[in-house]
Amino acid sequence: MVSGGHDARYIPPGAAHALDSAQATPHETDEWSLHGARIVVRAGALADAATLVRECAPGCRPIVIADSNVAPLHAAPIAAALNADLLVFPAGEASKTREQWSALTDELLARQLGRDTVVVAVGGGVCGDLAGFVAATYLRGVPVVQVPTSLVAMIDAAIGGKTGVDTRHGKNLVGAFHQPRLVLVDPLALRSLPAAHRRAGMAEAIKHGAIADESYFHWIAAHGAALLSPSLAPSLAERLVRSSVAVKVGVVAGDEREGGRRRILNFGHTIGHAIEHLSGYTLLHGEAIAIGMVAEARLGELAEVTLPGLAEDVAELCAAFGLPVRIAPEFSADAILALARGDKKSREGAAEYALPLRLAEMNEGNGRFSLPMDDALVRAALDATR
Ligand code: GLY
Repeated sequence: MVSGGHDARYIPPGAAHALDSAQATPHETDEWSLHGARIVVRAGALADAATLVRECAPGCRPIVIADSNVAPLHAAPIAAALNADLLVFPAGEASKTREQWSALTDELLARQLGRDTVVVAVGGGVCGDLAGFVAATYLRGVPVVQVPTSLVAMIDAAIGGKTGVDTRHGKNLVGAFHQPRLVLVDPLALRSLPAAHRRAGMAEAIKHGAIADESYFHWIAAHGAALLSPSLAPSLAERLVRSSVAVKVGVVAGDEREGGRRRILNFGHTIGHAIEHLSGYTLLHGEAIAIGMVAEARLGELAEVTLPGLAEDVAELCAAFGLPVRIAPEFSADAILALARGDKKSREGAAEYALPLRLAEMNEGNGRFSLPMDDALVRAALDATR
């Protein structure tokens, strides 16, 4: 299990479960501090959004940004409580562009917002990345609060300070590191998340178990149906999100700018991002990552880096959540390899892969935590995943 690094300290949890922070297991901890960000994971926390935003950015003028799906559900009440304007952009990955970044930035400029602005991003990964990038660049950077409402955003995108947009060359290729002041997570927001998005988010949860927390991997397997239930129990929702957040915080704490160990979070993402892009973003991020994890675990097995059987274990667990685990015939190996080479994770034109050694243990690769692989081996792994 991952333990917190030098800048990841558990803030003592609330009185209801006042365990000594050193003894608290990840899912019993409800707050973390990570590179200046306060991270709160608590059922019902959305009701406290206005208070917590004001606390983390005193004297700042909030502006709320959300997509067209989340705006009426979660963002409008927060904007009303903050007495702030709400900027709405069309829902979908197609909005994660420089054009949309520019349009939102112009809205801030038109309002003559100054450096005392705090951007409040309410929504899924697209909103957090896009609004986070607006905040990172507006007047050379203003504070941002992330209020993630999708599972992918709660357990991955909103935590760790990565912001950015896609280009026609690939995903997340233009962006900035910009740590939020506050990440406010209400796991009960998952109840209003469409089922396909809940399933897709489970791919990132499975990834966290696979890379760093064996007991969490098995816990997910044991609670499959309950985790997908429309009336998701608060205790399960909290445990799911907190276990994943603990893994992510533990990894990012020691490597904010992805110089080494943070790369283990990219398990499944070299091939997964390529497939997501080739699908024209008709595959949800988590769906593409499920396929990517299976293919990359197979690659690890073929390269004799990964203990045989892990690819099958990951495939079985992903499939149990209704996630795709096979590469469709229309995504050619040539196209996947070409995109992988253009990925942020490539070095000197060679794609790199974060590969597991076994369940919950990743290959360190001499401190690089990712390895270049022969094209022939990658092709074989892709073939074995069709
Ligand atoms: N999503 C992987 C990371 O934040 O590093």
